[in-house]
Amino acid sequence: MENPNEVLSAAEEHQLISSDESIPLNGFRKYQGVWLAEFFLPGVINAQRDFKARPTDILLATYPKCGTTWLKALAFSIATRARLSFTGHPLHDLSPHACIPLLEEECLNFDGISKLDVMNNEEPRLLQTHMPFSLLPESIKTSNCRLVSIYRDPKDALISFWYFRNKIWGSCGGTYTVVPFAVFFEMFYQGIIGFGSIWEHALGYWNESLRAPGRILFLKYEELLEAPVENLTKLAEFMGCPFTVEEVKRGVPEEISSLCNFNKLSDAAAKQDRATGVAGTIGLKPEAYFRKGVAGDWKNHLSSEMAQKLDQMTEEKLQGTGLVI
Ligand code: A3P
Repeated sequence: MENPNEVLSAAEEHQLISSDESIPLNGFRKYQGVWLAEFFLPGVINAQRDFKARPTDILLATYPKCGTTWLKALAFSIATRARLSFTGHPLHDLSPHACIPLLEEECLNFDGISKLDVMNNEEPRLLQTHMPFSLLPESIKTSNCRLVSIYRDPKDALISFWYFRNKIWGSCGGTYTVVPFAVFFEMFYQGIIGFGSIWEHALGYWNESLRAPGRILFLKYEELLEAPVENLTKLAEFMGCPFTVEEVKRGVPEEISSLCNFNKLSDAAAKQDRATGVAGTIGLKPEAYFRKGVAGDWKNHLSSEMAQKLDQMTEEKLQGTGLVI
């Protein structure tokens, strides 16, 4: 097992990988081939060493800024619909991030592992990670637990990430260096960003889905926007709790869609004053996870050369794989 102190420091790594002097790497570590925000590294290492997956677990494995918060809200309300009524539902007051734990965050200290069990005493346990497949604890890789991923157009993921990073800069200042947008663009393009390249992330889970058909549900942010009920119905089936005919008649899928829509969740977030976990510690507010909630906002930010460069990378990386993101 690698020790965090033995992982190349960002400065050493900088000599090795970045010929572009303008990419600042303070606050990042490259661990097992993937760039991580330094503060998550102990959580990743602890999870790899100690986390024990159960075959019944459902892990939401998402790349940052691709719809994690929305997916968490949907999965939580689907899984708990028999015991939680829609009036007075926890999501009216609680962030989806408080409802489903982030594995690498809960494992930042040792109590985290046992806390995961306490938080998840119902089966199936619902968990979330941003780790790429290659970094997952061995017990997740080898168990048959189900995985759900969500991706979106990398151009929109980049813009969303850029705004989110600015909020982090705003709240914790020194941890990251403020960079111009053009530099951030290169960081995203080269995968020198928390949890690495979006393309490698998607391919890792895609390859696993080819090895173990049926193990991973791939959702797309744009499709969820276009047909929320249809997609959340797919999610419920995959999670092993499909809607009954009676529930469909009563409009339960529509109720869940409405409970988790952008306006409802962001209105609720605006009333909460502290984000959970690391986000709360660095001063991020729950509303930081909500911005526009649309597809295609990249058109307002990217030059046509930048858009082309990203599209070209998407094509090159995914060509012949069967994966579309
Ligand atoms: P934008 O920045 O493009 O608006 P994550 O949860 O993975 O951090 O992703 C955040 C992105 O999802 C943000 O995208 C945010 O606005 C959007 N989002 C959050 N909740 C949403 C919802 N219920 N419906 C649609 N988009 C949502």
